Amino acid sequence: MFSEYAPFTTKYFYHIVIAVISFVLFNKFFNWSYRRIAPKVDEKLFEDVQEEPALPKDLKHIPYRYIRLPEKEMLSRASEFYQIAAARRTLRYFSANPVPKEVIREIIRAAGTAPSGAHTEPWSFVVVSNQTMKSKIRSIVEQEEEINYRKRMGVKWTVDLSPLRTNWIKEYLTIAPYLILVFKQTYGTLPNGKKKIHYYHEMSVSIACGILITAIQYAGLVTLTSTPLNCGPAIRSLLGRPANEKLVLLLPVGYPAKDATVPDLQRKPLSEILTEIY
Ligand SMILES: Cc1cc2nc3c(=O)[nH]c(=O)nc-3n(C[C@H](O)[C@H](O)[C@H](O)COP(=O)(O)O)c2cc1C
Repeated sequence: MFSEYAPFTTKYFYHIVIAVISFVLFNKFFNWSYRRIAPKVDEKLFEDVQEEPALPKDLKHIPYRYIRLPEKEMLSRASEFYQIAAARRTLRYFSANPVPKEVIREIIRAAGTAPSGAHTEPWSFVVVSNQTMKSKIRSIVEQEEEINYRKRMGVKWTVDLSPLRTNWIKEYLTIAPYLILVFKQTYGTLPNGKKKIHYYHEMSVSIACGILITAIQYAGLVTLTSTPLNCGPAIRSLLGRPANEKLVLLLPVGYPAKDATVPDLQRKPLSEILTEIY
């Protein structure tokens, strides 16, 4: 009689039983192997150190969802990514054409996925499209860069840079539709108001910057990686950033100017940058 109402269940009864048992066993095994991999939190450690931890003591650990790619696809994706990365160039001539701000937000969201020391995420990104603000930033940079080129950098540095044909005039800072300013947070604040240590903040932010620059390239835009020497404090104060933040990079972002040129630089071959030990 049951089979009349559930013919499928009856026909595949044993298959369903096997599937349920397999599922239960798989779950049991997974939990066991997970416990084996992830050691338990050392309660004593928390008692000894009276500090509030940066991450919750009872932080949940969840299964990592992973889809393994066939080797052929892996290689093809790695090569495809190389082509995208290799096409990136530092642009010094920008078009004023507007870029949708959603694109910029997504690019920064990608940068914010970077790994960071003890998951402290020690970065802040400031996006400027306001023309007055861009002019003020340009004025700070040009003023400092003129001193850099004339005095601070010295002969060797300016000679090394001269083939790139750069100087202290930074037109792109007012032409590019966006300026992204990346700040590193040298420390943070715990919920109890105390200082939170930002381990490896320099390295963490540098990794985020690498992702940011690559995301700009992947989105079909261009940028100029710049670290304006001696401009940090003035720009930080102009943008009203807190004292724990230091300017790391200033990136104009947009489309290249129609007649843009780039220096004909060659990159080191793989054989020169890679040592393989098998
Ligand atoms: C940390 C850093 C700082 C840089 N600062 C400047 C800069 O102030 N002005 C500039 O025109 N280019 C700057 N560049 C860009 C380099 O000159 C450029 O990356 C290099 O010439 C290689 O060219 P490519 O980026 O087109 O491969 C900087 C690059 C890096 C990584």
